[in-house]
Amino acid sequence: MGTQSHAPVEQADANAGWSSRLAFILAAAGSAVGLGNVWKFPYITGENGGGAFVLVYLVCIAVIGLPILAAEIMLGRRGKANPVQVFVKLGEEEQISTNWQGIGWMGLLCSFFILSFYSVVAGWALVYLWHSISGQFSLQPSDATGLAERIGGLFDSLLANPGLLLAGHTLVMMATIFIVARGIRGGVEKAVRIMVPGLLLIIFGLVVYAAASTGEFGNAVSFMFNPDFSKLTWNAVLIALGHAFFTLSVGMCAMMAYGSFLDRSVNIGKAAFAIAGLDTLIALMAGLAIFPIVFAHQLTPGEGPGLVFVTLPIAFTEVPGGTFVSIFFFLFLAMAALTSSISMLEPLVEYMEYRCNWSRPRTAIVTGTIIWVLGIGCALAFNLWSGFTPFGKNLFDLFDWLTQSILLPMGGMLISIYAGWILSRKAIAREMEGGTAITFSVWIFLMRFIAPLAIALVLVNSLFPGLFS
Ligand code: PFF
Repeated sequence: MGTQSHAPVEQADANAGWSSRLAFILAAAGSAVGLGNVWKFPYITGENGGGAFVLVYLVCIAVIGLPILAAEIMLGRRGKANPVQVFVKLGEEEQISTNWQGIGWMGLLCSFFILSFYSVVAGWALVYLWHSISGQFSLQPSDATGLAERIGGLFDSLLANPGLLLAGHTLVMMATIFIVARGIRGGVEKAVRIMVPGLLLIIFGLVVYAAASTGEFGNAVSFMFNPDFSKLTWNAVLIALGHAFFTLSVGMCAMMAYGSFLDRSVNIGKAAFAIAGLDTLIALMAGLAIFPIVFAHQLTPGEGPGLVFVTLPIAFTEVPGGTFVSIFFFLFLAMAALTSSISMLEPLVEYMEYRCNWSRPRTAIVTGTIIWVLGIGCALAFNLWSGFTPFGKNLFDLFDWLTQSILLPMGGMLISIYAGWILSRKAIAREMEGGTAITFSVWIFLMRFIAPLAIALVLVNSLFPGLFS
């Protein structure tokens, strides 16, 4: 127990930190694996030509995402506090400016915006789970165009239906609040212990199904792993880099928040490897589950955001056992989204708990409700408020662009500068011990030079689109 004067700075729930290294890895991998892997990765791979894009993405994960992930976990554990207080405490201990707490503030802002639209898309997965259960995607050997129209219409009518969108969004936020309100050990840990292995099992089953039943597995493998560099554009490289952040949940202090409950004995480098490895494995498996089904029905993989909500369901209606496959697929998508959404609420709740001295359930309910309200704007952006377009984008697109193109890369860049240049090597080495001297030097080099430079390119491209194309 800390002294009275320490109490507000330490995590209120610190005594209920991760019960084991595995629990932390499951939670962090659960955060990383989400809509980004299952919804976004396959469609941006489809849009950007396949293999060469996947290769660039893998390099971005290894060279930029992974080192920043380790840095975030390191900062969280070093500071043992919420993302704002981490920088205040480190500033005081190491005699460096506490203004770096701006990184924490940006992270919290980012959590607010991302969760508000993320939960709306997670709600789509719930609606589609319901469609699957109610047999909308059962085997129907009807004429192809009628089918495509019907399934496409299903998606359009979802977006045009504020009630349905809000119902999905509300359910996701309620589940997220419920889990976070119960704390790290009693809530987050219990949820991820069931859901993350569940995710692995389902995706494995889906890949086996796609391989065994479609006859197109070979084509999907060569689409994803045979790089054709003539299809690679500068813009695609930057999309891959931006996505590397989003998919690893770095840049907005979510991993820092999880890291703040991590035991000193855990080797951070190894843990970060395991997290990034699981995330990459599931993204690749999602591609290997989706593309064979899509190819087997002469559909195209470059359909954009509609890939899993339109293209794939069209294919489901034409395969034997499509109802079951679609139930498992959308259950997978919904669970993946939920294990991510809890990690977005966590840093906010940690901060508010500290700031207002409220109980965790109360903090989770108040913070979650504010995000729920913001999310209403995102849901209505598809219908009633579609005419409201500040900066030329509806609210959903605006929040998506602001976070993914600006705030996340900026957060990642500042974290790499802070860990690479501002914190003393001694302070870092204490946290990163356990690795070899050479990996430590490589890590520092990446944090100092490669990550900030590469991210600067992404930012310039976001702010001045078309510059590199
Ligand atoms: N990594 C998640 C995904 O791929 O869907 C999204 C995400 C979660 C981003 C948590 C940021 C975050 F803090």
